Amino acid sequence: MEKLSHFLTLKDLTQQQFLALIDLAKQVKTNPAQFSQALAGKSLVTLYEKPSLRTRVSFDIGIAKLGGHSVYLDQNNGALGKRESVADFAKNISCWADGIVARTFSHKTVEQLAEFGTVPVINSLSDMYHPCQALADFLALAEQFDDLSKIKLVYIGDGNNVTHSLMIAAALAGSEMVVICPEGHFPDGKVVQETQEIAKQHGGSLVLSTELTAAQGADAVYTDTWISMGDNVSLQDIEAKFSPYQVNQQLMDSLQLNFFMHCQPAHIGEEVTQQVFDGEKSLVLVQAENRMHAQNAVMITLLGNL
Ligand code: CP
Ligand code: NVA
Repeated sequence: MEKLSHFLTLKDLTQQQFLALIDLAKQVKTNPAQFSQALAGKSLVTLYEKPSLRTRVSFDIGIAKLGGHSVYLDQNNGALGKRESVADFAKNISCWADGIVARTFSHKTVEQLAEFGTVPVINSLSDMYHPCQALADFLALAEQFDDLSKIKLVYIGDGNNVTHSLMIAAALAGSEMVVICPEGHFPDGKVVQETQEIAKQHGGSLVLSTELTAAQGADAVYTDTWISMGDNVSLQDIEAKFSPYQVNQQLMDSLQLNFFMHCQPAHIGEEVTQQVFDGEKSLVLVQAENRMHAQNAVMITLLGNL
């Protein structure tokens, strides 16, 4: 299997590489002791242009559990690209660190870190993709369903970075995916086209719709906030358009939707109700826990000692 150099978007992965990461993540989760020295002697810089709870904590603790060391960088010591160029930043960090984990506004910034640095770069969320999230989410689905190529995953809400990565993950797994958005809020057209090509190769499908009925019988329904970090809109501007797309118990029951998923942070009362978010079919905390296992699998694959 070809070795991965970076983890910027799931589009860069073959089906074999994607499924191997899920398998490794399962092993890391069930047998952590076996991997306790996988990053011994390795240091990673974890860099943030935007706020984070899950990503920051799951990377910091995950790196420690693999015997490595992480250095947290926020924007207080000079914003990325302002005090010095992204290229110089990447070249300097590569002098000391064995890897870079980056959460950036623009996807171009993670691409530049990878281009000008000399160490593996992991995208921990950009405006276009959230591959660590989708990998963790598919680990959660793989724990519920033996055959990912037989599931129907439905995303309802704003077509955003999380949607893009989920679409690609579903295509790589050969799953059926339906993305339901209000008019004007569909995922990026180029990503849709590329994803449909990947899906075709693996017997999967990607369908877009504005109709909630397209969710009928989903094995899992996923939603995310209507406004993402860096979006320049107010809730007032979009609320009327998005309200009919709220995931609530009535929707879950009437369309026979099975599991509920959300990357978090959630805006309760907007994209989802408290009842569904906390319901017995909610996988949200499994997804959060799996962030660490999935990311550890990525780091072991990119720069591990094993
Ligand atoms: N899901 C996720 O990435 O959460 P944070 O923004 O808290 O890291
Ligand atoms: N789409 C959201 C995901 C947060 C984890 C955002 O980019 O803000």
